[in-house]
Amino acid sequence: MTKVGPPESDPEALLQVRNLKKHFDNESGLLAGVQLDDEFPYVSRSTSDVRAVDGVDFDIKEGETLGLVGESGCGKSTLARTVLRLLEPTEGSVYFQGKDLASLSGEPLRRMRKNMQMIFQDPQSSLDPRMKVGPIVEEPMKAHGMLDEEGREARAKELLEKVGLDPQHYNRYPHAFSGGQRQRVNLARALSVNPDFIVCDEPVSALDVSIQAQVLNTMEELQEEFDLTYLFIAHDLSVIRHISDRVAVMYLGNIVELADKEELFENPQHPYTQALLDAIPVPDPRSGGRTALLSGDVPSPIDPPSGCRFRTRCPKVIQPEEYDMSDGAWRNLVEFQRAVERRAFEETDPDVLRSRYFQDAVPSGDAGTLLDEALGHIERDKFEDAERILVERFADQSVCATARPAYEIESEIGDGRHYSACHLRRDEAVATAVDEATVGGAARPGTEAPEADD
Ligand SMILES: Nc1ncnc2c1ncn2[C@@H]1O[C@H](COP(=O)(O)OP(=O)(O)O)[C@@H](O)[C@H]1O
Ligand code: SF4
Ligand SMILES: [Mg+2]
Repeated sequence: MTKVGPPESDPEALLQVRNLKKHFDNESGLLAGVQLDDEFPYVSRSTSDVRAVDGVDFDIKEGETLGLVGESGCGKSTLARTVLRLLEPTEGSVYFQGKDLASLSGEPLRRMRKNMQMIFQDPQSSLDPRMKVGPIVEEPMKAHGMLDEEGREARAKELLEKVGLDPQHYNRYPHAFSGGQRQRVNLARALSVNPDFIVCDEPVSALDVSIQAQVLNTMEELQEEFDLTYLFIAHDLSVIRHISDRVAVMYLGNIVELADKEELFENPQHPYTQALLDAIPVPDPRSGGRTALLSGDVPSPIDPPSGCRFRTRCPKVIQPEEYDMSDGAWRNLVEFQRAVERRAFEETDPDVLRSRYFQDAVPSGDAGTLLDEALGHIERDKFEDAERILVERFADQSVCATARPAYEIESEIGDGRHYSACHLRRDEAVATAVDEATVGGAARPGTEAPEADD
């Protein structure tokens, strides 16, 4: 087969995703569940597109499991469906076995789809309650004209056994099964057409923890036996750690970190990954220490923050170059700015606010003057004016706001590639994909960055 993938292609890659975007039109009435987020009013809304997936690049090698993790709503399911072309991409390409999926339609697309199966989170609703398990497993084979009736039945029974069920279950209805067993039926159905690639969208999230491990183990055994490649989505890091070879971390439509599993868990290099690993989103952002992670909510994917998407919540956001504050004073200023934006307090007395937010370190010089100005506005109950100063003169001036980060760094564990979309990594980067002109555009690991061993 001729490879028509992009020149940077990893020859071993089964799947290559390049600058993939999926935006939903806000006007189309499909906006169920999307909330306009007024917590970040400085994000202008020039368009109303929901940028669910917004410039994503990755490869998946044959036989590997790429774990995809991120909070709910960050775009994982949309990415999965767009990769399989169940959703039409807004921009970008997906190459599967070297073929551009966008160039396929009709019968060739159908044939390619046979090779790419998907398993969903909810085993209850993805199985037709009126159908017996046997015909459920046989359905994809029938749709693709595989085998005759007898052959399909024999194969279905064999697969039921492979996934850890009793072939006698062939004549049972789904309701007779537990959640874990139903997910095994789903596995058998996906396997029936002998695919190379299975996208698993939170396949064990609805199951009890003890059952999760059993199903994951079965999935690993099946991977070995049938040479399967998995894109495995979960929001639970322990599940991701169990099953993945490499891990991609997604935040608000972007991949922010991608590395081999051990490297990612032992040497995380993006503040969002670090926060997920610490997994203690604590309400009080000023309580200090490692609990000061992940304050605030995920911003809306309609006009997300410029530069680094995570900057409105990042505990490590970088001080603008024009100031020379101590680290403590800058951190205090960031927390104060976010509190003003959230209207987290009603207090207007500058002295009280100073002692509440700046007790240990106060900005001096130009930054101190601007803070005084902001406090003056608050004293006159003009929160908007205070907010404008704090956002425009501080938050928006950070490199985190003005440039989209995309760096490749040396792995500490193993020799795999380690991508981190954080400006804190800029000094140690072996390759950079930052382009000031692409602010608001795509971070593109693997395309603009050369191979790590170059
Ligand atoms: N059909 C749709 N129309 C509009 N917005 C959508 C649609 N599907 C998903 N979204 C939005 O896209 C974002 C990503 O959703 P999703 O891919 O389901 O995230 P995840 O799987 O990580 O929880 C969310 O803000 C969601 O509300
Ligand atoms: S680029 Fe800035 S805001 Fe984004 S993760 Fe890194 S330090 Fe935080
Ligand atoms: Mg999802």
